[in-house]
Amino acid sequence: MMRRGRLMLALAACLVACGGSALLQDEAVGIKIPAHFPAIDFPEDNAPTRLRIELGRRLFYDTRLSADGNTSCGTCHVLSAAFTDGRRVSEGMQHHTGKRNAPTLANLAWMPRFMMEGGVPTLELQALAPLHDTLEMGFNMMEVIEKLKHDEALTALARAAYGRDTLDPFVITRSLAAFQRTMVSGDSRYDRYAFEGKKDQLSEQELRGLELFISEKTRCSECHSGVFFTDFGFHNIGLYEAYADRGRERVTYDSLDMGKFKTPTLRNIGLTSPYMHDGSIASLEEVVEFYNAGGRNHVNKDMRIHPLGLSAQEMEDLVAFLNALTDWNFVQRTDLMPYETE
Ligand code: HEC
Ligand code: HEC
Repeated sequence: MMRRGRLMLALAACLVACGGSALLQDEAVGIKIPAHFPAIDFPEDNAPTRLRIELGRRLFYDTRLSADGNTSCGTCHVLSAAFTDGRRVSEGMQHHTGKRNAPTLANLAWMPRFMMEGGVPTLELQALAPLHDTLEMGFNMMEVIEKLKHDEALTALARAAYGRDTLDPFVITRSLAAFQRTMVSGDSRYDRYAFEGKKDQLSEQELRGLELFISEKTRCSECHSGVFFTDFGFHNIGLYEAYADRGRERVTYDSLDMGKFKTPTLRNIGLTSPYMHDGSIASLEEVVEFYNAGGRNHVNKDMRIHPLGLSAQEMEDLVAFLNALTDWNFVQRTDLMPYETE
């Protein structure tokens, strides 16, 4: 655990030990969040600082983290697509194809469990999954460290940001998490309409779509609920009669969880096609047609998924509303882009 006092001591030590190279001094920073979002509960040992975020940003875009040297986190999590990759399922190292569609990384700071079956409890631990997954980056933490430890700039950052001697698993997982917690998105036209009183931000069609979204008829907002458009819960929506991917059952071993997946946020949904855990639905129009048809039969299918009887016009309205959830400022934030090649 890194308490503030120790951090300051470490900084002072670095100011002496790191003399010669440019002096690095860290400082606590606030994360900008919309007024209608709850406060972020940061882990005690990983409060945000300028250099922690900078180190995480460098590592996020560093292909040395993969075994073949070609893949970084940013290969599959691309800012312009709200940190997804536009592929049905992700293509990782040496073009091995994974089994799941890359999810957005927006608003992870509030997420209680990670991965689609919710098997990972913290964002710090999550980074270990892609690193070790042979389909994604195919690397192992000790090999990453061996590769990076000769990088003086990164090592100096690790010292100044976390007071550690070197880049170690503690530093790599924490700095990646610190950077990812800055990926806050809450400035869509819907937000301006609903929370800033700007009634002209949504068209009549989008307003009709919003009414449907929160209606008894569709019940979309019961699962895609609250400011994050997710209840963070796990549901089977009847995507298949027989699921190739067992979903939540993989961590609970409970057959009642077969085919249940974490409700995805719908923020920036217009930018994150294709859809569903396996990228099997190409467009929002088809997603809405899927819900309107009521899904396939599965013993675990949620009661709320049944034929909705929407008209063609209503389905278009719903899609128009979903497209109003795009935060264009988010996907253009320069502080989330890779640093220029230095
Ligand atoms: C080859 C493509 C690929 C690479 C490289 C990759 N990811 Fe992912 N990422 C995915 C996929 C696919 C998932 C969904 C996995 C699942 O739920 O089982 C995912 C899930 C995640 C999640 C969980 C999000 C949630 O909603 O629970 C986070 C966080 C994440 N990745 C961050 C990273 C970081 C950090 C790196 C680099 C260390 C990285 N990813 C590298 C494809 C990739
Ligand atoms: C019972 C809870 C529940 C209800 C009700 C519900 N959804 Fe979903 N939704 C989910 C879950 C869970 C997934 C992910 C399923 C998967 O990947 O297999 C999902 C996926 C989606 C996706 C794809 C997201 C992505 O990133 O791939 C969209 C879009 C969507 N829902 C919109 C809607 C709309 C519109 C409605 C109302 C017509 C609705 N949902 C009703 C739980 C629900």
